[in-house]
Amino acid sequence: MNTVTTTIPREEIHRQLALCRRAGELLPHGPGRPAAFVDTYGCQQNEADSERLRGYLREMGCAFTDDEGEADLILINTCAIRQHAEQRVLGNVGALVHTKRRRPGQVICLCGCAMQRPGMAEQIRRSYRHVDLVFGPHALWRFPQLLLRVLEEKKRVFDTEDSPGSIAEGIPAVRQSGLKAWVSVMYGCNNFCSYCIVPYVRGRERSRRPEDILAEVEALARAGFRDITLLGQNVNSYGKDLRLGVDFADLLERVNAVPGDFRIRFMTSHPKDAGEKLFETMARCEKAAPHFHLPVQSGCDRVLAAMNRGYTRGQYLDKVRRLRALIPHIVLTSDIIVGFPGETREEFLQTLSLVEEVEYDALFTFLFSPRPGTPAAALPDPVSPEEKQRNFQELVDAQNRISAKKHAAYVGTVQQVLVDGVSGDPEHPLTGRTPGGRLVHLTGDAGPVGSLIPVKITGSSTWALFGAPADADPDNN
Ligand code: 5AD
Ligand code: SF4
Repeated sequence: MNTVTTTIPREEIHRQLALCRRAGELLPHGPGRPAAFVDTYGCQQNEADSERLRGYLREMGCAFTDDEGEADLILINTCAIRQHAEQRVLGNVGALVHTKRRRPGQVICLCGCAMQRPGMAEQIRRSYRHVDLVFGPHALWRFPQLLLRVLEEKKRVFDTEDSPGSIAEGIPAVRQSGLKAWVSVMYGCNNFCSYCIVPYVRGRERSRRPEDILAEVEALARAGFRDITLLGQNVNSYGKDLRLGVDFADLLERVNAVPGDFRIRFMTSHPKDAGEKLFETMARCEKAAPHFHLPVQSGCDRVLAAMNRGYTRGQYLDKVRRLRALIPHIVLTSDIIVGFPGETREEFLQTLSLVEEVEYDALFTFLFSPRPGTPAAALPDPVSPEEKQRNFQELVDAQNRISAKKHAAYVGTVQQVLVDGVSGDPEHPLTGRTPGGRLVHLTGDAGPVGSLIPVKITGSSTWALFGAPADADPDNN
């Protein structure tokens, strides 16, 4: 698929930044600065988008609040991937009627994938009259201009025009953490898996230029970030549109060469495009975290073809074998959809057998959710919800057994753990992550948050590991 990527000129982003000031002056507020409440649903790309929206809000002079009742501006970044995610958002948006009644000047904004879905903006216009601004992912870069129209013209603004998408550099980000950062390397998706709404709401694949990505990573490394995740709907397609001869493996190599003490993660990889060159590069790059998220979706060839995934069970298993041959300790995770239209019990059992064969470290399991406008939503779906639910539970139980077994194998080992937070658990007041990304509950005090320390793993559960800083454990040596 050939598309010409539109790049938003830098001057246009400067213009948006200049409009922030005026928007900030017009935002309602009490004695202090205007307070903004930002809520994010869905995937990491949405998290990354919200960091940029917060960047604009900071330019407007906003302070951030966790209490929507206190907020002068509410911004909800929505997800469209499953019906349930959408319904949850709409339920919460409905409840904001009361918040706004108590704070009449409050400005309510909705953005993200669900807003880009055909028909949604109309539904908000008709049924959610307290919402002031609706915009989709394509309009994110012009949020200041859209908000200013709401504030100046005192009318509701909707901007959800369909678009192949663009790239906007230079929008400042307010990061949620000082340790972990998302760096988008590309946007959109061209794969059109038959169940998926993403290509319809996020446009065609387009890559950021390598020098822009590297400049962002360099700045993050200098600022002390320890964990950087390169994001894209399908990172393996990185660079195809740029035609610079730089693919994702090359990009990974360049990011790895950025000086600093940080780990690199990336997601999501599509099995049809993830291959030998990437696996070898990963094995060679010392900063690349030994974690691979490789969504398989199904273990049955008929279902994979109906999903338009572009690989067979056998091809997928070959890639897993190759990856494990090159990086034996790799942590493998995956996404699976149970109950794709017409999936028989036998076909489901093929997925279960694939999961038993691969033994993932963790799995994200989803019940099929028909998304209006996608080909799968129009397929006959004779299997009862009860049978789908039973299959789903069987898969979850199988994976829980596998995860528990995998975690138990860590007990007694020493792991380099990035201590990333504190928890309310008095016995394990710290949390951290292994190089492969497994969660560790840690003893100790808050001193080492942000540092990489050796940790002796002393226990495990289905979902996590337990450990103590190795220095504090005399048995460790
Ligand atoms: N129904 C259920 N799960 C879905 N996913 C994407 N679209 C759907 C859908 N319509 C899952 C896929 C994907 C993950 C992000 O969400 O497993 O990898
Ligand atoms: Fe959706 Fe498939 Fe694109 Fe992933 S690769 S975003 S599942 S269409």
